[in-house]
Amino acid sequence: MGDTGGVLELFAGIGGVACAWPEAENVVAVDINRQAAAVYRANFRHRYEVLTIDEGAIERPPLSSLLTRPTWWLSPPCQPYTQRGKQRDWLDRRAEGLRACLRAIEHYRPAWLVLENVASFRQSHSRYQLQSVLERRGYHYQETLLCPAEFGWPNRRPRYYLIAGQASCRPWRPKPLYHLDVGQLVQSPSELASDGMTDLRLPEDVSHRYRDALDRCGPASLRPTACFTAAYGKTILNAGSYWLDDRSGRPGWRRFSPREVARLLGFPDTFHLAPGTPRTMWKLLGNSLSLPVVRYVLSHLPHGPEPILPWHSATGRRWRPPAGAW
Ligand SMILES: C[S@@+](CC[C@H](N)C(=O)[O-])C[C@H]1O[C@@H](n2cnc3c(N)ncnc32)[C@H](O)[C@@H]1O
Repeated sequence: MGDTGGVLELFAGIGGVACAWPEAENVVAVDINRQAAAVYRANFRHRYEVLTIDEGAIERPPLSSLLTRPTWWLSPPCQPYTQRGKQRDWLDRRAEGLRACLRAIEHYRPAWLVLENVASFRQSHSRYQLQSVLERRGYHYQETLLCPAEFGWPNRRPRYYLIAGQASCRPWRPKPLYHLDVGQLVQSPSELASDGMTDLRLPEDVSHRYRDALDRCGPASLRPTACFTAAYGKTILNAGSYWLDDRSGRPGWRRFSPREVARLLGFPDTFHLAPGTPRTMWKLLGNSLSLPVVRYVLSHLPHGPEPILPWHSATGRRWRPPAGAW
């Protein structure tokens, strides 16, 4: 891996990129969310600016001075493009940050740019606007949908990824890099208890009512879990999977703990989660990134890392980041 020369993580949240790329130096993160910033700061020593990315902010410090960095990662809000949102796309007020970033790309021309968003971004007018800027500024770019399940990771999270640069980079050829199943990432009863996660069970009437609609997994299932969204813990359906809990001889369905969701996204156990109710952490994690895919995408940068997460072990348990990282 060459010198990264400085990485700017825009819409950084809890730091999916910083975590997936512990070798990167000189990383700066920007996001508006203070809760996310607190989690990020508990995990990384990198600078984190809590501010709103908009047309004004890109023209003045501190953001204007950070935009000179050669590598940018952008994970702008997905609500303008999701089924749950109103699909106002480019006109949505939550696309303001992306609109500002496109102006910044025109102006600052970073050497390398990576963008992640929900799969439906691919059909959006915002993507058309992004492509227009890249083409006007002479970028080479490639884009595709990638899902951690195609890498052998037991979670589904199909997302749109784009990588752009002043030169072209290696094409994507996803292949299994991991051999994990869900059961390997589930916490033991004693781990759950020591994390205070004693209340994850769905009430029996809820389990019964949604019996056929819940995305369910158990020790015998080889299917990857569903995509965990920011609504997990708030909405029952289409927000993530449920695990068969057969402790106490009374089988039932329980939610995955925040630590388990973090593992399913590829975060190592050394990653500090926010204290307090699980709902905060489910929300922050649901907005974050799939680290095995992020790492794979980053490996396509000329100065990027190796494609496999450095703390991965065959068992998926007891992960440790490399010594000295973060
Ligand atoms: C899809 S999430 C990205 C999360 C991040 N990649 C992670 O690993 O946690 C989008 C993030 O954009 C932030 N955000 C939304 N609009 C923003 C704006 N105009 N300026 C700064 N941050 C913004 C949200 O707070 C949220 O953390």
